[in-house]
Amino acid sequence: MRLYFFFVFQKYIRLLTRARKRTENREKQYFCRAGLRFTAMPNRKKNTSGKVRNLILKLQRNEIPDAQEYREVLLCHDRNAVSLLHEAAREASVRRFGNGIHIRGLVEITNICRNDCFYCGIRRSNGRVTRYRLTRSEILGCCRRGYASGFRTFVLQGGELPDSADRDIAGLCSAIRSEFPDCAVALSLGERSEEGYRMFREAGATRYLLRHETRDPVHYSRLHPPGMSLSNRLHCLDMLKDMGYMTGTGIMVGSPYQSIGNIVDDILYMARFRPEMIGIGPFIPHRDTPFAGARRAKAYSVAGGVEDTFHVPLPEWDAGEMTLKLISIFRLMFPDAFIPATTALATFYPDGHERGILAGANVVMPNLSPPSVRDDYSLYDGKVAYGAESAEGLDELRIRLEDIGYRILLSEA
Ligand code: 5AD
Repeated sequence: MRLYFFFVFQKYIRLLTRARKRTENREKQYFCRAGLRFTAMPNRKKNTSGKVRNLILKLQRNEIPDAQEYREVLLCHDRNAVSLLHEAAREASVRRFGNGIHIRGLVEITNICRNDCFYCGIRRSNGRVTRYRLTRSEILGCCRRGYASGFRTFVLQGGELPDSADRDIAGLCSAIRSEFPDCAVALSLGERSEEGYRMFREAGATRYLLRHETRDPVHYSRLHPPGMSLSNRLHCLDMLKDMGYMTGTGIMVGSPYQSIGNIVDDILYMARFRPEMIGIGPFIPHRDTPFAGARRAKAYSVAGGVEDTFHVPLPEWDAGEMTLKLISIFRLMFPDAFIPATTALATFYPDGHERGILAGANVVMPNLSPPSVRDDYSLYDGKVAYGAESAEGLDELRIRLEDIGYRILLSEA
């Protein structure tokens, strides 16, 4: 009798192993077709957390998970479950974009800023910064160099200039559009007036990146001085969307006082807002800011804030890993979105681009700014701006991405 059960059991195990092999082979074929290297899925039966699997399935079916479901996945530290999340996101990205990674040229047009955000190295009251503002011809020079290397999207990023600069910025957008009609202009210049945004749009800018940073007004007020408000930030995002910009938003991960509850609120906000681009990177302290003493990219336990079931104090967690998890969650939520493997992620991990892409990111934004000003655009300590992070390092980036089965897409806006 015992022997009988033993044989039945053995047969059952063999059947299971065969089924698993079959799925793996199917996935292997799929990944090879997409030009990707295949890594076998972790043993689903034994090692994966059901909660992560459920969230993946829900997002794949376009169902709407609730706050608790997101929270559990953000708190999940099971390595196999997390890699399953990354693989599902990577698969979604490959299905939609193939193995092509979009490349945008980043021009940091000024480090002059009227704001005084506590986390940012170019905040107004940091007297140690050498301030610069590139001229129109310098910026066009950057675009020319970028164009010659194959860039077809230029992202003009900078501190918040006074409103009086709006006309210049609009002039710059038209100049770029008339010299490079096959290129897209994206802006990342902070909160502007409705007229400003409209002027830029009419001058040919079609994309705008403005991270909301946090959806919690209390948390927002701990990151920004009085005078800046979350409601204005959200209002700007609504205006941009209404004006027909391809709109991007996002957060820093592990910013001081951030809780898991805050991040869940960010996800729920983004589920409603439906950004077309999503910028997320780990918070990294800058030595000349009030957050200089924050531990490198580790989240504080929530201090204050709303102490309900969601806003409970946290053990410290790793901002890099959390960023990667969020990239995957956003990829599954928004299969069509442009999600960069950000400079902050590449500063946090030497192979941050690769990690971001393998978690579902599909954009890299190499630095096109003149090398002479790059060190002055220092948002956080150690910000990388050379090598694979720069336009000169495009070949290095190409090789590194090829190593993980991807190729860079040039000559596409
Ligand atoms: N660490 C990480 N990201 C930062 N940013 C600003 N300061 C820091 C920092 N210390 C991000 C903000 C901003 C974007 C331009 O850079 O999210 O929106």
